[in-house]
Amino acid sequence: HRHLLGIRELSPADIELLLDRAEKAVAISRQSEKKMSTLRGRTQINLFYEASTRTQSSFELAGKRLGADVMNMSVASSSVKKGETLIDTAMTLNAMRPDILIIRHSSAGAAALLAQKVGCSVVNAGDGAHEHPTQALLDALTIRRARGTIAGLTVAICGDVLHSRVARSNIILLNALGARVRVVAPSTLFPAGIRHMGVEVFNSMSEGLKGVDVVMMLRLQRERMEGAMVPSVREYFRYFGLDAEKLKLAREGALVMHPGPMNRGVEIASEIADGPQSVIQEQVEMGVAVRMAVMEALLDPRRNEDRAA
Ligand code: CP
Repeated sequence: HRHLLGIRELSPADIELLLDRAEKAVAISRQSEKKMSTLRGRTQINLFYEASTRTQSSFELAGKRLGADVMNMSVASSSVKKGETLIDTAMTLNAMRPDILIIRHSSAGAAALLAQKVGCSVVNAGDGAHEHPTQALLDALTIRRARGTIAGLTVAICGDVLHSRVARSNIILLNALGARVRVVAPSTLFPAGIRHMGVEVFNSMSEGLKGVDVVMMLRLQRERMEGAMVPSVREYFRYFGLDAEKLKLAREGALVMHPGPMNRGVEIASEIADGPQSVIQEQVEMGVAVRMAVMEALLDPRRNEDRAA
């Protein structure tokens, strides 16, 4: 079975092929009749151990638009609450013969572990601070549609890089497609080894945003911080929050992105999130299309013809 566990396993050609497929899914999703039969008869299970608005709902809609039967496993009311382990839960669902399992979990490597155990395709919908591959793909599709290409653009990823699987997947993907990637944050919000990840490192927005084509803001993940690590919100916004003044440093008309959920007034001002340069709603729309493309690529038996074409 084929899986999507991280961007790292994809070649630049694989990424472009998925984005091309997703373009077709955008067109279909904009029709009044959205339902296809590509995955008719297939069963998709969404298994989300962490909260989600965008990812879970877009995977559900993506599966339904492709004609699959979609089941959302409600972890909160499941036997996970009685102590059933991740593997036992997955093996139980696996016995019901799904074709694809979408997993979100707080532990890095959870999706890869499941992929070794179950007899179906697995898609990583976010594993700890490791990867969130479909988020990076939808971000790339949003940029490519707005700018025509990704190669040669400069993208600043700003904020809580330390806890961000979105940042990690984006750094890998944007580098693979030939963008220059900057990361901008206080030093305490970078992971160890950031300088070996193919990025330019900045500790101030005034330097980091200068002349960039895309400003990608990250949520300050305060729930994953402890004690002295938690910055004061007011100070954080002052130095690292994206407001009109800081955005002026970027190239004129630079794209403003945020994977969501947003902390308005913490990492981004409301007027910027809702402003003319924001493509945050487009990112959400692209999320459904990219997830359709990924599931189709993993499950559609005709995919090899597509590759050969
Ligand atoms: N961007 C993202 O993963 O959002 P959710 O946590 O709402 O799925």
